[in-house]
Amino acid sequence: MATGKEATTGRHADKYLTEEMPRLYARMDRYFAEYGKGHVTFGKAPGPNDVHMATNDYLSLAQDERIIDSQIRALQDDKSDIYMSGVYVQYLDIQRDFERKMAAYLDSGDAVLCQSGFAANEGLIQAIADPETPVYLDLYAHASLWQGALVARAPAHAFRHNNAGHLRKLIARHGPGVVAVDAVYSTTGELCKLLDILEVCEETGCLLVVDESHTVGVLGDDGAGLVKSLGLCDRVPFRVLSLSKAFVGRAGVIAAQPNFTEYFRYTSWPAIFSSAVMPWEIARFSKTLDIIQQEGWRRERLWQASAFLRDGLEDAGYNLGGSETQIISLVAGPERNTAALRDALEERGVFGAVFCAPATAKNKSLVRLCVNQGLSQDNLEQVLDVCREIRGVLDIAKWPAGKRRAAG
Ligand SMILES: Cc1ncc(COP(=O)(O)O)c(C=O)c1O
Repeated sequence: MATGKEATTGRHADKYLTEEMPRLYARMDRYFAEYGKGHVTFGKAPGPNDVHMATNDYLSLAQDERIIDSQIRALQDDKSDIYMSGVYVQYLDIQRDFERKMAAYLDSGDAVLCQSGFAANEGLIQAIADPETPVYLDLYAHASLWQGALVARAPAHAFRHNNAGHLRKLIARHGPGVVAVDAVYSTTGELCKLLDILEVCEETGCLLVVDESHTVGVLGDDGAGLVKSLGLCDRVPFRVLSLSKAFVGRAGVIAAQPNFTEYFRYTSWPAIFSSAVMPWEIARFSKTLDIIQQEGWRRERLWQASAFLRDGLEDAGYNLGGSETQIISLVAGPERNTAALRDALEERGVFGAVFCAPATAKNKSLVRLCVNQGLSQDNLEQVLDVCREIRGVLDIAKWPAGKRRAAG
């Protein structure tokens, strides 16, 4: 147990953090012992000529002038007074119009706008589960879904990643409840084995929640995500997405049946106790949705570029951990390997995002490269050249995480 002695490093100058808080001191000391020289996620800042692959702006819409104009116009025209919880802004036409437009796009009975993907997932699980409802989560499901189970005080059970058989066994042991998966897993870029999971849900009477944050805008002919592209809209009761990926903003959406969205607005804690999304942000999302629907070439280019990069990296011997999408992760294992990999990439002008615990298991940290459709063929070739070069420089084939493909 912490004694308070750990707190005598002199780092805790705040007079409120006194010896009365030895456990907090001990935790902070552990953090600084590990990351005193800087957190592993923190590397160099990219320059304008570097290849940016940390962003989730998959369709390269962040700087689209049509979208920016619509947001500016909405901001200039805004006469609303909605600086409060969404509970009080139900009259706001722009929000209901956008929700209906999203519902039509996703082929869902209705949709409800939330302040973020995190708030949507947390609020949804809290609204549909309780201490008597087991919640089954894929081991790799997003942290916000786990947070929802925690807030609902529901018993949470992890099933092996993408393993419907294990899910079935857990449900047989603990009873039916809620099952939560990601359509595409955000650290590995793997697709969910959705049909298998859905069959188990239907056989056992579980409610399925699918997080489509990394698929909406991107997957399917019209980009409406995995559930719709598989023709499963009538069979999946809840879909959630963050609008911080292909929609490059700050909000989230839940697609569900009309009665549910009404219930959600008045029972989910983030919906009640946190302020609503601003009208000019909604205007931005609405314009973005038009472009996402109209400009299918962006998706085509994204898929083509992603396949090119995945194939090239696999040929170079990288273990991509099952990526089938625009999210491509170079799994390095322990954080010191990941930091070395990040530095080597950045020195050569390639900038990804480091993922480590708690986003991954402790010794499975990685550098995630997200493809966006705006990358040129030269950019993609550069990434491949750099990855080929550093594989030898860092001796990646000898790393535990680097071995599988190299041996093949
Ligand atoms: C799969 C998934 N769900 C939910 C979220 C949370 O979204 P937001 O950033 O909008 O809170 C993220 C983003 O990190 C995500 O990757």
